[in-house]
Amino acid sequence: MSAKVVVVTGASSGFGKLTALELARRGHSVIATMRDVVGRNSAVRNELIEAAKAEGNPLQVLEMDVVSDDSVEAAIARVIAQHGRIDVLVNNAGLMPIGVTEAYTIADVERLFAVNVFGAVRADRAVLPHMRAAGSGLIVQVTSLMGRFVIPFFGVYAATKFALEALAETYRYELSGFGIDSVIVEPGPFPSNLISSSPEPSDTDVLTAYGAVASIPGQIKDNADKSYDPAHPPRPQLVADAIAGLVEATERRPLRTVVMPEGVDFGVARINEAVAPIQNDMLRAMGMAHVI
Ligand SMILES: NC(=O)c1ccc[n+]([C@@H]2O[C@H](COP(=O)([O-])OP(=O)(O)OC[C@H]3O[C@@H](n4cnc5c(N)ncnc54)[C@H](OP(=O)(O)O)[C@@H]3O)[C@@H](O)[C@H]2O)c1
Repeated sequence: MSAKVVVVTGASSGFGKLTALELARRGHSVIATMRDVVGRNSAVRNELIEAAKAEGNPLQVLEMDVVSDDSVEAAIARVIAQHGRIDVLVNNAGLMPIGVTEAYTIADVERLFAVNVFGAVRADRAVLPHMRAAGSGLIVQVTSLMGRFVIPFFGVYAATKFALEALAETYRYELSGFGIDSVIVEPGPFPSNLISSSPEPSDTDVLTAYGAVASIPGQIKDNADKSYDPAHPPRPQLVADAIAGLVEATERRPLRTVVMPEGVDFGVARINEAVAPIQNDMLRAMGMAHVI
């Protein structure tokens, strides 16, 4: 297995951090990107660099705020200048709004799409010219089970993840001719900072109109960590392992990979299995069987 040059977004915590460490541990040249590396995230930056150095692993940390053209372009330009190529992009950065869907204003929804969706599109568009020129590459898009089904109060989050699913699947078809693969990782519920950083809706008039219902999202957040068995908490490392497996795959990769905590099954793999033949039939009917 030759070492790959891998860019990970949102590597300051959670799956992104674990994925960066796991890939570096496996000998890949990892560029762990995060926003605010000299400010709020300076401690985790140092922690990642020290951890990699202690184990002799190839990892560097670069500033990348996925909502900024300048930030993304500068980071990708630095990677290309230093490594000459990018083999893999892991689009992981994301936020998870939990709230009354109607109470998220246009500005709220735009801010969330700016990170979850446009941030991924921005990173894709920055790396793809280099991958097309190289005639190879892999984009791993981290979505969610909520890219395939919805739960009340997760409407805006699910909308961003459904959008990412559509983009990543379309990329799969359009980019295969360039030797570039696009795959989707759909994690189930794992403990992370997503709940504590969950953006609140701004429209207080709407929240008032919903009465007691408006308190349910807060209860969901308060109970999120209590739903785990403290003796056997879900292991987010499973997601890092799955992503590393996709990066290192030598056979054709599956389009979708569901990663659930041990012993949990919400049926998303069954949704994927049920939908795939319908999608493929539609492509055949459109005369596009060659992209399947
Ligand atoms: N945990 C779960 O149960 C779960 C389930 C399904 C899918 N996911 C998805 O997995 C991904 C990672 O989430 P996680 O669970 O590991 O949560 P997390 O620990 O909160 O990680 C989210 C990461 O995204 C980063 N981020 C947010 N806005 C950013 C921006 N503008 N530019 C760059 N980075 C930004 C955060 O950085 P800061 O530290 O700077 O805020 C953080 O590093 C997300 O896409 C999430 O939707 C998570």
